[in-house]
Amino acid sequence: MPVKVAIIGGTGLYENPHLEKPEKVIVETRFGRALLYRGRHREQEIYFLARHGAGHGLPPHLVNYRANIAALKILGIDAVLATAAVGSLRQEMAPGDLVVIDQFIDFTRGRPSTFFEGGGAGVVHIDMTEPYCPALRGALLRAGETLGEDIVDGGCYVCTEGPRFETPAEIAMFARWGGDLVGMTNVPEVVLAREAGLCYATITLVSNYAAGISAAPLSHQEVLDEMARRKGALDRLLLEAAGGIAAKRTCKCSPGALKLEDITDEKP
Ligand code: HPA
Repeated sequence: MPVKVAIIGGTGLYENPHLEKPEKVIVETRFGRALLYRGRHREQEIYFLARHGAGHGLPPHLVNYRANIAALKILGIDAVLATAAVGSLRQEMAPGDLVVIDQFIDFTRGRPSTFFEGGGAGVVHIDMTEPYCPALRGALLRAGETLGEDIVDGGCYVCTEGPRFETPAEIAMFARWGGDLVGMTNVPEVVLAREAGLCYATITLVSNYAAGISAAPLSHQEVLDEMARRKGALDRLLLEAAGGIAAKRTCKCSPGALKLEDITDEKP
């Protein structure tokens, strides 16, 4: 049985044109409703979820991350491949570059960022030593080799609250602290995926140099323009990677802490 994969499309990725017969799926969870598309690619069932909504109506701090990940859990998804536009803190990671990140630093605040709030599920602290699934990271990197796309293996993603861009002082601090890339959405998505026991990895596309590294002021339009330029490559890469995920799990992404009943009840 091929692995059941979901793609979470970030900025610039609101559908995947290579998915055959896409049909709308709406999932109700304890945290709200999620909207996805289910389609097929080379006999594999693939779900697609646009993180910011189909018309990019949802800013990063208002995305319902818990509903999205809970919906994937309810649908029985095994593996999640996510994309994210990022600003670069490093000269050597230039606009247009693809990076499969391997660490994050969390500078978000005030976002609901866990499924575990005591109650029936108890007090749960999940391990984040290896936040991104090594098997899925490998599948993304191999897809790059197959399709002739250079992909940087590893990078530290700093997640800010947004929706404003950062100051140059913040970017300089993040760089000194070990950050390589900056974005506004990967946390809590990656955390919730691990809590739910889903394998999860993110491929980032550098859309701009970050504030103070870029010579010009930043704009959302330049992010959209760079994503539009590279969307075709990302669309193909994601499906190639999805097809290359081994059916047998060798990773430790599933501590099994989250039970389905924790996310499907009526809202308390
Ligand atoms: N900062 C934060 N998020 C981003 C950026 C950035 O420079 N580029 C794309 N997403």
